[in-house]
Amino acid sequence: MKFAATLASSRADIPLTILSKMTGTLRIDELGPKGDGIHKAQRERIYVDRALPGDNVRADLHRGEDGILRGDLIEVVQASPHRVKAPCVNYEVCGGCTLQHAEDGFYRNWKVEIVRDALRKRSLSPRVWREPVFLPGGNRRRATFAAFKKNNHVTLGHFRRRSDRLTDISVCLIADPAIMALRAKLVTLLAPVLQDGVSAGIFIQTVGGQFEIVITGPIGKTGKPDPQVRDAITQLAEAAEVDRIGWRASDRDHVEVIVQRHPLRAKFGVLDVALPPLSFLQPTKAGEDALVAAVMELMPRSGKFADLFSGCGTFSGPMLERGAVDAYENVGPAIRALEKSKGAKPLRAFSRDLFKDPLRRNEANRYDVIVFDPPRAGAQEQVKALASSKTPRLIAVSCNPATFARDARILVDGRYRLDSVKVIDQFTWSHHVELVALFTKPPGKAR
Ligand SMILES: C[S@@+](CC[C@H](N)C(=O)[O-])C[C@H]1O[C@@H](n2cnc3c(N)ncnc32)[C@H](O)[C@@H]1O
Repeated sequence: MKFAATLASSRADIPLTILSKMTGTLRIDELGPKGDGIHKAQRERIYVDRALPGDNVRADLHRGEDGILRGDLIEVVQASPHRVKAPCVNYEVCGGCTLQHAEDGFYRNWKVEIVRDALRKRSLSPRVWREPVFLPGGNRRRATFAAFKKNNHVTLGHFRRRSDRLTDISVCLIADPAIMALRAKLVTLLAPVLQDGVSAGIFIQTVGGQFEIVITGPIGKTGKPDPQVRDAITQLAEAAEVDRIGWRASDRDHVEVIVQRHPLRAKFGVLDVALPPLSFLQPTKAGEDALVAAVMELMPRSGKFADLFSGCGTFSGPMLERGAVDAYENVGPAIRALEKSKGAKPLRAFSRDLFKDPLRRNEANRYDVIVFDPPRAGAQEQVKALASSKTPRLIAVSCNPATFARDARILVDGRYRLDSVKVIDQFTWSHHVELVALFTKPPGKAR
């Protein structure tokens, strides 16, 4: 502790050699973009899980394999004024929510600041910051639990952050209560399906009152769905009223549908889509509605539109109410679902890898508006092509402020103007944040 006091006052660098089991008292200076409290030592930073600026904390210090110096929180010695009691009973043992211990105003400000900061780092600022939207927790419509069977008892929960300790999670303040009710039934119903001593992933998604489960990992006696385990899965689907259950050996494999009682359907604007297994959906219906509303506010009343990284049509459906839509996406089943969807056309759906084969400038020039909603990696190759286009209006939807800011810089360098940014928080209490941004280019500004 003597050393710890020195550390806090002098901010000395910590010798690598004595790091293995060292406890330190640290003053937390700021909150990092992933929700860790940061102590700024002289030459490096120490990241403390679940600490807030203004906290004085006692922490076990260790250097991770990634070279980053981390502190595992032991005790809050003096609490930050932003600290509140975390509302969830599982806060201490679950790895799900990183920011439950932060007061609401501080939390909201930090979320907007993540986006502002990412843009500042690229010397960017929109002309208008549209009013941010903060959605309450309690309606997350998909969840992945880790399952582990030992002596015929199934534990179904989450791993603590950066830990291999699995805890049964029967209460969750962010998941849709219907998912938690299904989870409770699965604790017994999964016993004849899972292998003893081997963990599996249990993905649950609910849409419009329907349920899908995808099991990832070895099942039954052989590790694969033999007749006995298929039977157990069919019985599970009936007993728990699950519409579809699929299985895959690992994350890299395709999902084999073991039982489908009813196809899962989703409505996006004028489209009614039969969802393939593991379809991407926005994590909450309220979040989907907020993102769609934010995009549609920026759309003209009519025109010819493209929806890049379309998934199963979250934006294409509402956009079809205003004009013709071409949807582009690299997941084949999603594109086929869009092709077969019921609803007003003209909708054209194209299977295309937009990282390797982005929409080219001449193709982009055909559209009045292009909406793009890439995965967390962003859309670097695609925006390089868009930057030189004449498309008057680009609407970006992003779940990663850092890659968004990188891509925005490319567009602004290509003479697009960053008109507005709207922050939408549907990942309550996590460090994840989404945004909708408008880029415009007046006629004659194409390079
Ligand atoms: C954030 S999701 C958005 C999906 C959809 N816009 C929605 O809101 O439901 C990103 C989408 O990009 C797709 N995607 C990922 N990599 C891609 C690539 N290289 N080319 C085309 N689409 C890709 C994913 O399959 C996923 O559907």
